[in-house]
Amino acid sequence: MVLGSGGREHALCEKISRSSQLETLFCAPGSDAISRVATCVSLNLLNPSEIAHFSEKNKISLVVVGPEAPLAAGVADELKKRKIACFGPTQKAARLESSKAFAKAFMAKYKIPTADFKVFESFDELSCYLSQTPERPLVVKASGLAGGKGVFVCENKKAALLSAKKLMEDKIFKDAGSCVVIEEFLRGPELSAMAFIDGESLVFLPFSRDHKRLQDGDRGPNTGGMGAFAPALVSDKTKREVDVIFKKVLRGIQREKMDYRGILYCGLILTDRGPKVLEFNCRFGDPETQAVLPLIESDILLFLEAASHKRLRGMRLKVRKDFSVCINLVSEGYPEKIKIGRLIRGLERKYRQIQIFHSGTAFQDGKWRTSGGRVLSLVGTASKISEARRKAYRTASRIFFPGMGLRRDIARKEGGGS
Ligand code: AMP
Ligand code: GLY
Repeated sequence: MVLGSGGREHALCEKISRSSQLETLFCAPGSDAISRVATCVSLNLLNPSEIAHFSEKNKISLVVVGPEAPLAAGVADELKKRKIACFGPTQKAARLESSKAFAKAFMAKYKIPTADFKVFESFDELSCYLSQTPERPLVVKASGLAGGKGVFVCENKKAALLSAKKLMEDKIFKDAGSCVVIEEFLRGPELSAMAFIDGESLVFLPFSRDHKRLQDGDRGPNTGGMGAFAPALVSDKTKREVDVIFKKVLRGIQREKMDYRGILYCGLILTDRGPKVLEFNCRFGDPETQAVLPLIESDILLFLEAASHKRLRGMRLKVRKDFSVCINLVSEGYPEKIKIGRLIRGLERKYRQIQIFHSGTAFQDGKWRTSGGRVLSLVGTASKISEARRKAYRTASRIFFPGMGLRRDIARKEGGGS
């Protein structure tokens, strides 16, 4: 059973549904699109006992957790108690994502390279600190979960103070913003690195790159992700450095006695002084997963099971030598006040060599309509990144809903084109 309802879970369900090992696939709560490859059941993902009870009753042998919130709510812990295999870490381990302050302390303890930082629980202290530090760009982050939207890259101290005020005093993300991390601003290309992890071994997935800002040229606010491509090519030196970072995280996880089986995701920035960790996620990235999974040749279910049973050692992932480019179509107003319920045209036709994953759609009266901020992920795959990109954008030009937004420059630097 997969937990979740977005594009990442659609991609996961689609991939799992092709496994020769699969008997039955459930998805909770799933979506109209997911219901075409899995049996969708309505469960409250933030209620661990409800999920465990359903799993027991239906003899589910493996639960794969898509989003972070159920992990932070303790779903893996409850499943573990009832001896049901879970792909996803326990609540304690999931703090690497659910608390940026915790993640920063972990990185400091295990000497994992990251941006210099300070943590604040009081707005007055933060404001006093800012008044005493030199003028420079800064990054302000809500420590808690904010769907990728709680990070503000600020040009100067004044903007940093305003962002911190929104989080701590105006409480735009409720308690998630009551603790704030202020970081030094780093420059460099970003890299999303994901690996299967079982507490002892790591198996890397292809590296990818997300495009988090709303507008072309990395302008506008941070979003949950506007698109991604894979593999992101890096030098052998960077590969080795990323490998060292993952091993340090693994060592920390072991020393802290965290039960971590699932995906370890490091959001990295490749600076002049080597890769530094911007964030950990304790689950598959969204939309990176939509770009990465079409490249995987191995039976994904074998890896999901192996990770949850601590049997990853010696496993090797078979990966196609292709590129994929994922473009997200988003609703009017995203990422702030979104408009939904819009009719989507162009989904009835068949697209060749394109995969379409649904993040926020509903099928009503024979028609697809928008139902969320991120609506669709269009993924083109080809032996050249320029071709993968062309396929994805050609499909984007054939799909339409009023107010539809997209970035025109996903993988542009890598794939050429305009
Ligand atoms: P995070 O959720 O912490 O990964 O931050 C979201 C996005 O904000 C990242 O993908 C970066 O684009 C940007 N960002 C976060 N921290 C920094 C930093 N210290 N320096 C520069 N950009 C950052
Ligand atoms: N794409 C970044 C994330 O999944 O958080």
